[in-house]
Amino acid sequence: MKRKLLGALLSVAMVASLLVGCSSGGSTSTADNAGNDTQAEAPANNTQTETTAGGKIGISMPTQSLERWNRDGAYLDEQFKAAGFETILTFSDNDSGRQVNDIQNMLADGVDLLIVAAIDGEALNTAMNEAAEANVPVISYDRLILNDAVSYYVSFDNYTVGKLQGEFIEKELDLANAGDKVYNLEITAGDPADNNAGYFYNGAVDVLRPYIDAGTLNIVSGQIDFDTVATAQWNTDTALERAQNVLSSYYADGTQLDVWLCSNDSTALGVAQAITSDYAGSNSVVITGQDGDEANLKNIVDGVQTMTVYKNVSNESIVTLGLAKAMLAGDTIDASLANSFGIECAYDTESYETSAGNKCPSFLLVPNVITKDNLQELVDTGLYTMGDDGYLSAN
Ligand code: BGC
Repeated sequence: MKRKLLGALLSVAMVASLLVGCSSGGSTSTADNAGNDTQAEAPANNTQTETTAGGKIGISMPTQSLERWNRDGAYLDEQFKAAGFETILTFSDNDSGRQVNDIQNMLADGVDLLIVAAIDGEALNTAMNEAAEANVPVISYDRLILNDAVSYYVSFDNYTVGKLQGEFIEKELDLANAGDKVYNLEITAGDPADNNAGYFYNGAVDVLRPYIDAGTLNIVSGQIDFDTVATAQWNTDTALERAQNVLSSYYADGTQLDVWLCSNDSTALGVAQAITSDYAGSNSVVITGQDGDEANLKNIVDGVQTMTVYKNVSNESIVTLGLAKAMLAGDTIDASLANSFGIECAYDTESYETSAGNKCPSFLLVPNVITKDNLQELVDTGLYTMGDDGYLSAN
């Protein structure tokens, strides 16, 4: 019901914003929280027909301190601008209060639609309620915001990300044929404030649980509960410190560590650093990750990290743009939209809820595993270049 009303309200809002856009013909400039100026340009006169709809889009990213959000912010900003929208892009330095503030400023600035990657999925209620009051629709980007003001969710299949990590470990250690052999495992998960973190953890642990129960996988530290292995703000140094503590408490006597399940690349970076500096053993430890951050791709080339689950965030922003255009045009939004992007993407109306019983229609892209054997796939996306030294850098 809310969404049907939205279409009608938006048409009115869009006509109004169109008139403003056409008459001003200028550009607005705002400062993001890193202190950089962000330019928000009005559509140029020679833009294509599809760009004439215009409108102002607020893009709120969590932080510049984790590599991927810089890419997400840049792709979203570029693609919306190229499609004729004005944009306001902010990064909130992993501070939820600041993110609320940033979104409130966007609303005061008259944005027509919000795209928000939440720092804390439960801490944006004030800003979300104000967006709902102002009839500004919200796309929850990558991380679900637990508030019913959210109209749609665009992300990757988060449970599958974890499942791919678990299955990789299962295959790499050939757990199904391990017989009496015991492998020692440790786990590092993500930020409990991030709704995704539990999905990643569960996806992986669901695959590994039978081997843990059978004793084929042994968690020497005994630390398996999500809250015990979680990493506030996905911080590399926090992951490093905990890994150092685990290594000095449980592995200093020469106990062999075989595998460390890490939910993403920023945590894998800390764990890999701890293993390099503090692990007494000489075997190479299987380490998982997620994202394809440059430092981690280098570690994969060097054999320090074993895999990453790659998520093409350029595609994630293309889907977000397509969805935003459809929302602003008042189009019907269903599976056919998901199929229209030429990107593997499921339209899922069941898996995610913004509150108990309130399903959030979601566009879920497909992640894939990258190891040192298929790095070329990243180069083939056109988003990375491989240097003569074999290391990849993001374009
Ligand atoms: C994203 C991951 C990312 C993590 C830390 C999660 O919400 O889905 O791709 O590694 O946040 O930035």
